[in-house]
Amino acid sequence: MKAILVAGTRPNFMKVAPLIQAIGEYNASSTEKQIVPILVHTGQHYDYEMSRVFFEDLELPEPDIYLGVGSGTHAEQTGKIMIEFEKVLFEEKPDLVVVVGDVNSTVAAALAAVKLCIPVAHVEAGLRSYDRTMPEEINRVLTDHCSQLLFCPTETAVGNLKNEGISDGVYLTGDVMVDALLSVKKASEKSDIVGRFGLESKQYLVTTIHRPSNTDDRVNLKNILDALSESGERVIFPVHPRTKRAIIECGINMRGETIKPIEPLGYIEFLKLMSHARKIVTDSGGIQKEAYILKVPCITLRERTEWIETVEDNWNILVGADKEKITEAIRVFEPASEQRDIFGNGRAATSICQIISQQAWGKEKA
Ligand code: UD1
Repeated sequence: MKAILVAGTRPNFMKVAPLIQAIGEYNASSTEKQIVPILVHTGQHYDYEMSRVFFEDLELPEPDIYLGVGSGTHAEQTGKIMIEFEKVLFEEKPDLVVVVGDVNSTVAAALAAVKLCIPVAHVEAGLRSYDRTMPEEINRVLTDHCSQLLFCPTETAVGNLKNEGISDGVYLTGDVMVDALLSVKKASEKSDIVGRFGLESKQYLVTTIHRPSNTDDRVNLKNILDALSESGERVIFPVHPRTKRAIIECGINMRGETIKPIEPLGYIEFLKLMSHARKIVTDSGGIQKEAYILKVPCITLRERTEWIETVEDNWNILVGADKEKITEAIRVFEPASEQRDIFGNGRAATSICQIISQQAWGKEKA
């Protein structure tokens, strides 16, 4: 069977890498029934630090097809991906399209495929923040509602789908980001990034800010950066291109001892930086989960989260862009000592691959 896997942005690459790896292992163990993977990169992210470095760090093969859509408004970007991806579907005639996560590339590819009656598998299905002002929430809902196979990372995600009347084709597989993290953990420990920046383990904070609600709102951005710069902590800040532009436009001056802005990092170096941080301050979805897995307390610059279990377990606290709350959390937030097994055992991609093969060849036999 032919399966197209779609990736387009930084947080997609660590989700696709374990799937490609698992398909390779599956093919090696099965002589007749092969899954032929075709990797399509939409080009939503295109800078070296936002894309290429992840291919190197995760040993991802070169994309088979590059759509090169680049940046734009939501409609422009989603529309361009649909138009270009539909051409690929006509040409390749895949048996399945696999999409991951919740970015514009995810929903665009899913919509193009389902309208051609090509089955869609969604990896990281069922997540909900219940905040429809987030573009990702719209992408999640739409993608789930046009997918035939829904691979959920958590039990909460399965329950969310059930509440929306979706139970057919739903599988609890664990989270492929655990697979990716475990696969590079050893390599990441060898990175010298902590010493290179003159840091000591557990003596600094890491922050990332890129969500439009924080970058495009001048007051929110200033509140967050003021809280960080007045914290008295050393703060390492890999700056997303959107955020860099916002900081320049707002005329915010970050020169000073506290915050150290740096270019976005690759996966291996960023994992090392996170795992040795005292706390992580972020508005990213994936980083909240990685912080939990790495057992680093997380302060989330949002009002809601799709990774609610990390908050229920008291390893993550939601503070929005409220300066007082951020300051307080940096000072006093301490996690619980216990963690549950929420995200699986690092074999999610293998389970997904097995289910895909059972679906494909189960149908053929019938
Ligand atoms: C996208 C995802 C978001 C994800 C994030 C990770 C959507 C709706 N959002 O947001 O869920 O958390 O990726 O980064 O899909 N840019 C560059 N170089 C690049 C890519 C982007 O300079 O390689 C700049 C462009 O100015 C662009 C802006 O960043 O306009 C935003 O990029 P875009 O892909 O629209 O969304 P992200 O904010 O990255």
